[in-house]
Amino acid sequence: MAAATREDEEERGALTTALERLSVDAGEYAASEDDEEEEEESEPPAPYACAYCGLADVRSCVKCLHCSKWFCNGRGKTPGSHIVMHLVRSRHKSIQLHPDSPLGDTVPECYACGSKNPFVLGFIPAKGNAVVVLLCRSPCAHTSTSKDVTWDTSQWSPLIQDRAFLSWFVATPTAEEARHTRKVNAQEISMLEDLWRSNEQATFRDLQTTQVEEEVVKTQTVYKDAFEYQRIFAPLVAIEAEYDRKLRESQVQNAVVVRWDTTNPRKPRAWLEMPQLESGELRMAVGDEIKLKYQGELHAPWEAIVQVVSVPQNAVTEVGIELRHGTYAPTQCTHNFTAEFIWKGTTFDRMHSALRRFANEHGCMSGYLMRSLLGHAMPPSTLTTPLPTRFTVPGLPELNHSQVCAVKAVLTRPLALIQGPPGTGKTVTSASIVYHLCQMYPGPVLVCAPSNVAVDQLTEKLHQTGLKVVRVLARTRESLSNTVNFLSLHEQLAKASMSPELARLTRLKSEHGELSTSDERRYRSMMKACEREILKAADVICTTCSGMGDVRVQGLTIRSVLMDEATQATEPESLIPLVHGCKQLVLVGDHKQLGPVIMNRKAAQAGMKSSLFERMIQLGHRPLRLEVQYRMHPCLSEFPSNMFYDGALQNGVTAQERQQRNIDFPWPNPGAPMFFRQNLGQEEISGSGTSFLNRTEASSVEKMVTSLLKAHVLPSQIGIVTPYEGQRHYLITHMQLHGSLRKELYREIEVASVDAFQGREKDYILVSCVRSSERQGIGFLSDPRRLNVALTRARFGLIIIGNPKVLSRDPLWYYLLQHFKAQQLLVEGPLSNLQPSMIQFPRVPPGVRAQERRQAEGLAVDPVRAPFRTQPSAASDAHAPWSGGNHGTPLLSLSKSDRLTEDDELELRSQASVADDDTADLSVFVTHTSIPP
Ligand SMILES: Nc1ncnc2c1ncn2[C@@H]1O[C@H](COP(=O)(O)OP(=O)(O)O)[C@@H](O)[C@H]1O
Ligand SMILES: [Mg+2]
Ligand SMILES: [Zn+2]
Ligand SMILES: [Zn+2]
Ligand SMILES: [Zn+2]
Repeated sequence: MAAATREDEEERGALTTALERLSVDAGEYAASEDDEEEEEESEPPAPYACAYCGLADVRSCVKCLHCSKWFCNGRGKTPGSHIVMHLVRSRHKSIQLHPDSPLGDTVPECYACGSKNPFVLGFIPAKGNAVVVLLCRSPCAHTSTSKDVTWDTSQWSPLIQDRAFLSWFVATPTAEEARHTRKVNAQEISMLEDLWRSNEQATFRDLQTTQVEEEVVKTQTVYKDAFEYQRIFAPLVAIEAEYDRKLRESQVQNAVVVRWDTTNPRKPRAWLEMPQLESGELRMAVGDEIKLKYQGELHAPWEAIVQVVSVPQNAVTEVGIELRHGTYAPTQCTHNFTAEFIWKGTTFDRMHSALRRFANEHGCMSGYLMRSLLGHAMPPSTLTTPLPTRFTVPGLPELNHSQVCAVKAVLTRPLALIQGPPGTGKTVTSASIVYHLCQMYPGPVLVCAPSNVAVDQLTEKLHQTGLKVVRVLARTRESLSNTVNFLSLHEQLAKASMSPELARLTRLKSEHGELSTSDERRYRSMMKACEREILKAADVICTTCSGMGDVRVQGLTIRSVLMDEATQATEPESLIPLVHGCKQLVLVGDHKQLGPVIMNRKAAQAGMKSSLFERMIQLGHRPLRLEVQYRMHPCLSEFPSNMFYDGALQNGVTAQERQQRNIDFPWPNPGAPMFFRQNLGQEEISGSGTSFLNRTEASSVEKMVTSLLKAHVLPSQIGIVTPYEGQRHYLITHMQLHGSLRKELYREIEVASVDAFQGREKDYILVSCVRSSERQGIGFLSDPRRLNVALTRARFGLIIIGNPKVLSRDPLWYYLLQHFKAQQLLVEGPLSNLQPSMIQFPRVPPGVRAQERRQAEGLAVDPVRAPFRTQPSAASDAHAPWSGGNHGTPLLSLSKSDRLTEDDELELRSQASVADDDTADLSVFVTHTSIPP
């Protein structure tokens, strides 16, 4: 954007001039905010009164341009101001000030690109402070390439801070003004927003009448029979599905720009420009369906269902789509399209159908297993098949003692649980078990896990043992590149030897794009038979839990099932792979890492968020425990071991084995390759309105990554973990724009949420904590399970970047920080000259009780005896979020995630919709066009 000349300002109308007129500078105006002003308004309510609290003041009320309701910039009892609460909850993203406000009826927008999303807007005081200019955070304020000399983009500061508009922009009501308004809390706001979705005119009065909600029945530990089980779970699945549907369908993208590609006029392709992808507010997967509508003036209204065929990787906002064969499209139009998202409830349908089978089909699993799952007391049962003489299997590491014990025990039991901290070889042990099961029984063994990442890991290990492995992928994922793609059913099918007849049909299909109806039918049934043969001949079938509901595997009988990361699956999800004749089940997991994500609060509270694995432990099943970890440098495992696993985690690797030579990186203590880098920069709400980012942290991460790369660490060895989607997105963009090395290097680095990293490892991990506000708390960072996962992904080195002042108010983080500080690894300053931080903590954070305080005062630096550790005799156990107990059955206790704030929920939802989406459109059968040579 060129310098803002007077003509520009006149042209663009808007803010700059208004601000200039006032000669305001952010600071100055803020000081004058409590100027006394005209007398109070009373009934009848002004049209611009806040729809939440009723406050009516032209300076502090703004209009939401999306729904035309007005909201004030006061916060009363809520964590954010009313207007901000509304924008977050409703996902509305543009506002207008009151015509009689000091700035007139301004619609704040980015001076350079016109974006109106208040969450991305910020201001830069111009030289001389006469005017300010509004720019969006990214890309406009972010690109220092701006030739504009008038604005110093390093001065950029967001318009919304601490969840309210800056008071010079929209006034904050004074206490006096707020006194007579309705006192609303966050929960009421949330309910009213829900109500507005179906009735725009609703008020708080309607809320009271609709408050009688139907009760949901809670899950139990023991069920009378499978009918009862189904009766309880089916409604929970339905609530969760309904929630998911509403969420998906509420994501409408307006003003979509379409770039058509009409090389094949019968099957037009196009690229949709979707700005929402930029903010990370929208996640799309290949295979998603979109209803694309045209409502502009250049053509009659048009709409079609299109399928997403390519999604952008990093920092691109275009989605590739394909129209159905022969669909007409107004390819002369490029603007004014709308995209609505079509929800697919496949996973939920599969849960329902598994529940039905469980209840109604006698032979769907062995009687023993069924009664065990229902919680009926069963005499221990031993399988009598002869055991192998050697337990270590080809292609995998030599098993240690506890691993051998686990394998041996599992092979003789119809139902077994394996539990182990990160890196203890759960997956290696699982692969070994599967290897033996394949030798012991005919027919394929089923290996599954709730996430695709976990399945792929096992698939890879199983392949190493020489077993014949088939990976069944959802159709939607077939085109995604992956290390184990060559094992997927569709690729094996493409390589399979075909009958001459099938080869002919395949060739015809690829040449003409389609077949006659009868040929198509023949083609499909022959392909299906071919698939069936591959599956039947396999030693192992690997798929996600929900993947076992795929039509391609229906009708197979599966005797043995092993489920990895079982603590991340909901019960109905776990049931899907079990109703195909299961007689032997192995559940592998760690209930001290993250559990399943349930988005609907009611379903979660009713018990949906606890896994089958956890319930089995409650029922008294003793898990086989693995305790030697092979992942982390011993200095990295120390804290998690003490804090989360009673100090029982032993190291199977030495410091020497985890020391990378020739890596010249300024570790403050090279013998302990970890540190906590202090960052005091502020958190900001991200463009989605529901997530957070931290710009100074991002820039710090980029510098460290660059330094690692310069030290010859490969991009594939580095992982960046951050709990917030907003930060994930910002980091990717930031590294692209500001990384000093080749852009591709940064692009190859994986940046993911903590949740997405569960079950995985990288050589070097950087954790960006993001939260850094004195007032807002640290959200779901306080979930011990999330911290546990974040701390245990690295093999060689770990760097945490965060605000110690804010984080140390949480007891768990307090001990972590003390742990770093005691070793002089809590540092500040530039990377080239890291110095121990001078920060002083309160002796003990609030929330730690007297008993613990006494301990902490003496021992805080010694996490071995920190209160979170659960020594069987320690009285401090009462507060411990984990009561593991070295001996006997770990008790399950509620984690803090049960107290998620609503903002955390919104964040988790947006991450969950990242859709490990595993549901293909299964009505379409094989669509191969490749012909084997
Ligand atoms: N007995 C063992 N000896 C040597 N390395 C092992 C052994 N068991 C596991 N590992 C290694 O430890 C790392 C973590 O193993 P993994 O099975 O992924 O652990 P988990 O699933 O419990 O997180 C892997 O690199 C794996 O090869
Ligand atoms: Mg694992
Ligand atoms: Zn609105
Ligand atoms: Zn209000
Ligand atoms: Zn902009």
